Amino acid sequence: MDTVVLGRTGLEVSVAGLGCGGHSRLGQATGATEEESVRLVHRALELGVTYIDTARAYGTEEIVGRGLAGQRDQVVISTKAHPQGDGGPLTPRALRESVQLSLRRLRTDRVDVFHLHGVDVGLYEHCVGELVPELQRLRAEGALRFLAISERFGADPGHTMLQRALLDDCWDVVMVGFNLLNPSARDRVFPLTQDKNIGVEVMFAVRRTLSQPDELRRVARQLVEEGHISEGAIDLDDPLGFLLRPGRNGSVVESAYRFARHEPGCHVVLTGTGNLAHLEDNISSINSQPLATEEVEGLRRLFGHVDHLSGN
Ligand SMILES: NC(=O)c1ccc[n+]([C@@H]2O[C@H](COP(=O)([O-])OP(=O)(O)OC[C@H]3O[C@@H](n4cnc5c(N)ncnc54)[C@H](OP(=O)(O)O)[C@@H]3O)[C@@H](O)[C@H]2O)c1
Repeated sequence: MDTVVLGRTGLEVSVAGLGCGGHSRLGQATGATEEESVRLVHRALELGVTYIDTARAYGTEEIVGRGLAGQRDQVVISTKAHPQGDGGPLTPRALRESVQLSLRRLRTDRVDVFHLHGVDVGLYEHCVGELVPELQRLRAEGALRFLAISERFGADPGHTMLQRALLDDCWDVVMVGFNLLNPSARDRVFPLTQDKNIGVEVMFAVRRTLSQPDELRRVARQLVEEGHISEGAIDLDDPLGFLLRPGRNGSVVESAYRFARHEPGCHVVLTGTGNLAHLEDNISSINSQPLATEEVEGLRRLFGHVDHLSGN
C-alpha cells in the first residue's frame, strides 16, 4: 500500500481509503449482515488501509468501531455531521452532541478528521459563523483533531461551495467529488488546496455511472444529445472502450480509480463497496501506475470541460 501525507494535517495515510457510505455502506445497503461488514473493515486493514471515512448519516459508525477494536491507533478515522438539523440549521449544541455520539459509536476518545457533511453553499455562512467555533472548542478539548468539510457533489457538481470554503483558513481537509467524467475539481479546487496545503479526499471516483455499463452508455448518449460531446467523437456502444485495448488487462472501474489516484492534488481516493472481491481489486487499482498519457489525453478531449454531472 502506498502512503501519502494528508496535507497540513501531517498524518501519513494510505492512498486508498475505505468509504463506509455511498450506495453500498459496507454492504448494509444491500443486505449484508453486520458481521460481513465488519469483515470488510478487517480485510481493508489487512490490505494496509489506514484511512476510514464514515458518517453518522451512513449508520456505519458502530461497524467501524467494532472493526477497529484493538487496532484503533493504526487508523485515521474520518466522520461527519450534517449542518442541517431536523428542525433547521444544526445548532452548536446539537453538533457537540453529534460528535459525542460519534465517539461512542466509534468506541474512541477522539475523531481524527471531523467533517461538516454535504454542505450546501446556502448553509456555508452558518457553518463558519456558528459551527466552526464549536468544532474549535471540541478540538481544544481533544475530542477531534482536524476540521474538514465535504461537498454535495450530486447537487453541486461545479464545486460552488468548496470554492467559497477554500477562501477561509479553517479547513484542514476537504472531501471533493472527482472522476474522469467530471474532472472540474482540477481547475476549481486542487489549485486552491495545493496552495494552502489542505488534505484532499476524493469521492465519486467510480460511483454508478462508471461501475454500470448501461448507465455509462446512457450518460454518453445524454452528453452527445446535450451537445457536450460531438457526435462521432465517442463510441456510444462502448464509450470508454479506448481505455481497454487488446492486451491491456483491466476494466472501466480499474481505470477510474487509477485516474483519480494520480491526479495532482488528490491525497486519498475513497473506495466504497459491500463486496470483498471488489475491495481487493480496488485497492490494487488505486496502488497501480497512472493511465497512459494518450488515455488521459483521450479522456480530457471527451470530458475535460464537463462540470454539470456527478456520475452518481
Ligand atoms: N458528501 C459526502 O460527504 C459524501 C458523499 C458520497 C460519498 N462519500 C464518501 O465517499 C466514499 C466513496 O464514495 P462511493 O462509495 O459512493 O463511491 P465509489 O467507490 O466511487 O463507488 C462505489 C460504487 O461502485 C461499486 N463498485 C465498487 N467497486 C467495484 C468493482 N470493482 N466492480 C464493480 N462495481 C464496483 C460499488 O458497488 P459494490 O458494493 O457492488 O462494490 C458502489 O456502488 C463513500 O463510501 C463515503 O465514505 C461522502
